[in-house]
Formats: sequence, structure tokens, C-alpha cells
Amino acid sequence: MLQVITSIEDIKQRIKAFKENQLSIGFIPTMGALHEGHLSLVRQARKENDKVVVSIFVNPLQFGINEDFTQYPRAFDNDCKLLSKEGVDIVFNPKAPEIYPNGFCTSVIMEHLEDKLCGKSRPGHFRGVATIVLKLLNLINPDIAYFGQKDFQQTVVIKRVVADLNLDVNIKVLPTIRNKEGLALSSRNAYLSETEKKDALCLYKALIRAQTMVNAGTKNTKEITAEMEKIINNSKSAKIDYISIVNPETLEAVPEVQHGDVAALAVRIGKTRLIDNIILFFLIAVMWINLNVQEIQSCSGSANFSSHRM
Ligand code: PAJ
Repeated sequence: MLQVITSIEDIKQRIKAFKENQLSIGFIPTMGALHEGHLSLVRQARKENDKVVVSIFVNPLQFGINEDFTQYPRAFDNDCKLLSKEGVDIVFNPKAPEIYPNGFCTSVIMEHLEDKLCGKSRPGHFRGVATIVLKLLNLINPDIAYFGQKDFQQTVVIKRVVADLNLDVNIKVLPTIRNKEGLALSSRNAYLSETEKKDALCLYKALIRAQTMVNAGTKNTKEITAEMEKIINNSKSAKIDYISIVNPETLEAVPEVQHGDVAALAVRIGKTRLIDNIILFFLIAVMWINLNVQEIQSCSGSANFSSHRM
């Protein structure tokens, strides 16, 4: 049965009990207002762990002064219903003063990643994300923590924190869940009017165009981003924050697309800032990998053949 825990002391005790019983823990940090994107992470965690912990905490530290902290959608009761249906064991829902008590002054600062892409227009955002995620990972001590590709820069920052600070946790990044038309699910989509929701499809259209151009052999990122820009600018209510094609680890913009680079963008639709991204692939590389996987599978699946060769 789903248990709601609000205090740090209680969560520590429950986690200690899980560890004493050698139960593996899957953890999904969230800010609530849950949708199918969040639930896809929960379902994967449910498959792979003995216990599943979800945190719901709208983290003030990652919102700028003029951002939407106070308006951010909050739907705690409904979130608990959804999580209960998914067989989640614990919801950790602390209050801000418990997480950031008087005198709190320690945070995670990165030298290279937090000033790129979204970091440019949201100074301090990734410091806030890295700090809360580190605190939560320390408290929950999970075997696996799950994140969505939808927040691509966030996943890069978190993987970096885990590597740099030697945290003992496996970070899994799962694909972006979209609505039927391609709009990436986001708690912030609740701010969009019906017309804006239609306009917002330009983000995905632009990303798909980038992949189509790569399929056709275009590698020059200026050419690709110019096309993406055109598609976004066709939508009345859209205003581009950035469009960039970057290396997936350094987040540096690349002049020529390589297999696995990421096309990322942030666009304002009316007053709502939306982000999305796509991992660009070279068809030829994917076919080559598939062929090799098939070869390995057919070798390992055929005991007679391999013993014959030995
Ligand atoms: P939040 O926006 O609630 O997202 C929680 C997790 O759900 C993140 O890992 C996010 O990438 C993932 N997610 C959101 N939309 C998704 C979608 N459409 N498909 C797949 N996954 C999706 O991200 C945060 O909260 C916060 O920054 C947090 C990590 C909790 C720190 O406060």
C-alpha cells in the first residue's frame, strides 16, 4: 500500500529498513502534477526493483524570481491515486523548510554545463536541480534513479554530478512520452490554451525535420537549425529561445552532426516556455548495429553451431 512520508527522519528510517532487508530501491524524483511521462518512469522502476519511491517536491531553488513557482500545477491527491494504481511503495512529499532549513547555504555548482542551452535563460536553474537531486539521492539511496529524456540537459547535469561526486547509483534515462500528435507531455502543458497546444506542435515538427534532413545526408548544423527555425516561426504564438545541435555529453554546439548528437530547443508558446529534443541518428549506423546484434543473437542462440566452431 502507498505510504506518504513527509519528514526526513521518517524517510531515513524506512530506507534503512529496506536496506537491512536487502531490498533494491528504484527512485523517481518529480515535482508532481503527474502525467504519462512520469508514469512511464514509475512503471519501469516497478519492473526493476523491489521497492519504488517517488518524491513530489516543487523545488523553489530551481525557479528564477520571475518564473512560475507559485503557479506551478499542484495535484497531490490525484498524484497519489495514480501512484497507488502503479504499485508505488512510498511517496516522499517534504515541505520546503525541512529541505532548506534556516542557514542552508550549500549547493552544487558545475563549471561547464549549467551555462549552456536552458541555463542561458534560466541562470541558477541547474544549480537548483543538481542540489535537490543530490539531496534526494542521499536520502533515498536508490539502486536506480529514473529520469526522462524530455529534460535532456537535466539528465546530462545529473549524470555529471553522479560521476564527479562518486555517487553509488545507476542513472537510467527513458524516452520522451508524447501525445498522439507529438507534443511532449509536460506538467506545464496545463498552461496552454487549445490553440496554443496546436501551435506547440511546431517543436516536434522542427525536430522531425532535423532528423529527416540528417536522413537525406545533410550534416551542416547551420542548415538544419535554419530549417527548424522556419518551422517554428510559422507558428503565430511561438518565440524561439534557442535551437541548437549539441554533443550529448559536453552540450557544446557542433558544426557537423555526428550520430548521437542531440537537437534541442526551447520555445515560448504565448507565455509558456516549452522544451523538447531528439537524439539524431544516422540510419546507416543503426542498421549496422542491428545487423551486428542479430549476428550475435544468432551465434549465441545456436549452441550446436558455436560448439562446432570450437
Ligand atoms: P518533473 O518536471 O516533475 O519531471 C520529473 C521526471 O519526469 C523528470 O525526469 C522528467 O524528465 C520526467 N518527464 C517529464 N515529462 C516527461 C515526458 N514527457 N516523458 C518522459 N519523461 C518525462 O524534472 C523535474 O521534475 C525536476 O527538475 C526534478 C528532477 C524532480 C528536480 O526537482
